Amino acid sequence: MDGKTLPVRAIGTPLDRFDGPAKVTGTARYAFEHPVDRPVYLFGVQATVAVGRITAVHTEVALAKPGVLAVLTHENAPRVASFDDPELVILQTPEVAYRGQFVAGVVAETSEIARLAASMIRVDYEAGPHDVQLRADHPDRYAPEVTNGGFATDSVRGDPEAALADAAVRLDATYTTAWYQHAQLEPHSTIAEWADDRLTLHVGSQGVHRLRDSLATLFGLDLERIRAVSPHVGGAFGGKLHAHPDVVLAVLAAFAVPGRPVKLALTRQQMFSQVGYRTPTVQRVRLGAGRDGRLVAISHEVVQQTARHKEFAEQTVTPTRVMYAAPNRSTTHRMVRLDVPVPTIMRAPGKAPGMYALESAMDEMAIACGQDPVEFRIANEPPLDPELDRPFSTRNLVACLRDGARRFGWAGRDPTPGVRRAAGGWLVGTGVAASMYPVYQLPGSSATIRAEPDGRYVVSIGAADLGTGTWTSLTQIAADALAVPVDRIVLRIGDTDLPAAMSAGGSSGMTSWGSTVVEAARRLRARMAAEHADPPAHGIEASADMPANPERERFSMYAFGAQFAEVRVHEATGEVRVPRMLGVFAAGRIINPKTGRSQLLGGMTMGLSMALHEQCVLDPRFGHVVNQDLAEYHIATNADVGCVEVHTLVEEDPYVNPMGSKGIGELGIVGTAAAIANAVHHATGVRVRDLPITPDRFFSGATAIRG
Ligand code: MOS
Repeated sequence: MDGKTLPVRAIGTPLDRFDGPAKVTGTARYAFEHPVDRPVYLFGVQATVAVGRITAVHTEVALAKPGVLAVLTHENAPRVASFDDPELVILQTPEVAYRGQFVAGVVAETSEIARLAASMIRVDYEAGPHDVQLRADHPDRYAPEVTNGGFATDSVRGDPEAALADAAVRLDATYTTAWYQHAQLEPHSTIAEWADDRLTLHVGSQGVHRLRDSLATLFGLDLERIRAVSPHVGGAFGGKLHAHPDVVLAVLAAFAVPGRPVKLALTRQQMFSQVGYRTPTVQRVRLGAGRDGRLVAISHEVVQQTARHKEFAEQTVTPTRVMYAAPNRSTTHRMVRLDVPVPTIMRAPGKAPGMYALESAMDEMAIACGQDPVEFRIANEPPLDPELDRPFSTRNLVACLRDGARRFGWAGRDPTPGVRRAAGGWLVGTGVAASMYPVYQLPGSSATIRAEPDGRYVVSIGAADLGTGTWTSLTQIAADALAVPVDRIVLRIGDTDLPAAMSAGGSSGMTSWGSTVVEAARRLRARMAAEHADPPAHGIEASADMPANPERERFSMYAFGAQFAEVRVHEATGEVRVPRMLGVFAAGRIINPKTGRSQLLGGMTMGLSMALHEQCVLDPRFGHVVNQDLAEYHIATNADVGCVEVHTLVEEDPYVNPMGSKGIGELGIVGTAAAIANAVHHATGVRVRDLPITPDRFFSGATAIRG
């Protein structure tokens, strides 16, 4: 024990999730299921042009339908107070920013009437020319001021161009990733009620306080007049972090029918234009190495899209600033504004697509240098953060690679591509890639803990459980911080009536909320020690804001991992199967090994899905995603996933936070796609540089499978 981290009691125990019985018996209520009196139902009408101006809205037929209470359009909808977030400004002007944008909404006594009446609204447009296609050579590409998360757009050290020109071994390759859509099992849902000058929302949210803050700004309401409640969320993945137009439409409708709770659940099809998505990327990676296999230069450039009406710049090349040693290096983000919905964070924003490109390039470079891909990575391990010249709090990528190689059976692997066959026409290959994810700690959380006379401790913090296990793991942290068993903890989360908390984003929830709860517990124990041996009859409480962690200035803080994959590619059809994946992760202390394993396993499955299946297909003529349902937007299902092994290394990090933990919500997806793509190359000799790896990639001219 280093003395800086909590002693292990509940932390580290693979407890079943406390909300499990409520989930499986259906008593855990998701937003739309919250019981309300006399609900009404809302259905949105979406723009059918990508750019244009509404010239007329014909609502008479819809309004005449029995059961229709209101039709909202830009002509009659309540006005917003702020235009600062253009994504949220709907039904305020006749302008259309992208196809699918809400242009009207129908409120009715039943959901069926609302939907039918919505279909009876006719909107006339004056359409303008639109541009929805991302191209790396787009003439309007530009450098954003900063990326999402506040990262510098560009970085440079040394003279990468000269070093690349002089390098003995060089790689220059371009990789692309697809437009990916959040597809939570629980579609975005809201119940909004405006009564007694107060707005009450039941909503699936990654952070009710930040959601409330955006709506307060948008509508010019005092914070106290909005309550948002979100105890259970059916998947979020970044799509429920920020407010999107769906919740705004629900609030506009609530203002129109005061005293009636308005229920809105997006259809699956509507999700593909309303709740954000991951930008497609075009990434050029250039690597230069000496004959000894030491990198001398790393360059990583991305071109990606944003919406014309609001910028979102994914931090795609940021992992390349951290991963490998090389004296000469540069990274750049370039954006293209298109007439499309606003992209947002999704499943390891930046890291997942960026590491696909970098880790594919590392595989290509290892081969070019005649080195084993595991050893090549180890040989280029940086002693310090290669851009900031400061130590890592802990960095166990090498240990993950070595442990993974041993467990996977990597030793003795024949690097020759396209030579291993299994019965039935399958080519067999194996691949490896690294994973990484930052240890973010976001300010803005506070917690209150109340010791009750019966020996229980009520821990209140506006945290979120997205289905990831917060109800359980935050309870474990509180129990250890108070030195009591978990059954003495009563956790309260997911409500703006609780102390404000930062949202669940960037895998930072446990670090941010956990540090806050530990500090509140420390204060409560100090107070009890000073004032009362036992809690008085009226209870005793203490509150704390999240303390700053000064170690964050001294150290770079990341979790790392190694991803291994075995694939089979059918030589006649190009079908790719993944019978085996193995991930080894070093992510500090794992709060709950059971829910933690589920997160990492889920992340790896998302990575498989990203590698092989998921892809939004855009119709450039109209500017919308055509495969807008789960029949055509393919997500890996059980049958697509073979054996997935998850291992975590023992890692003691006294600097990250009082728990010694690192976020694991997103670590599992990072690197998976590259491990699979690298294994596909090993199986077939075909280097697929465009995700997803669909069968057609193997049968296009020069890259055809060599039989
Ligand atoms: Mo996560 S995509 O940072 O909510």
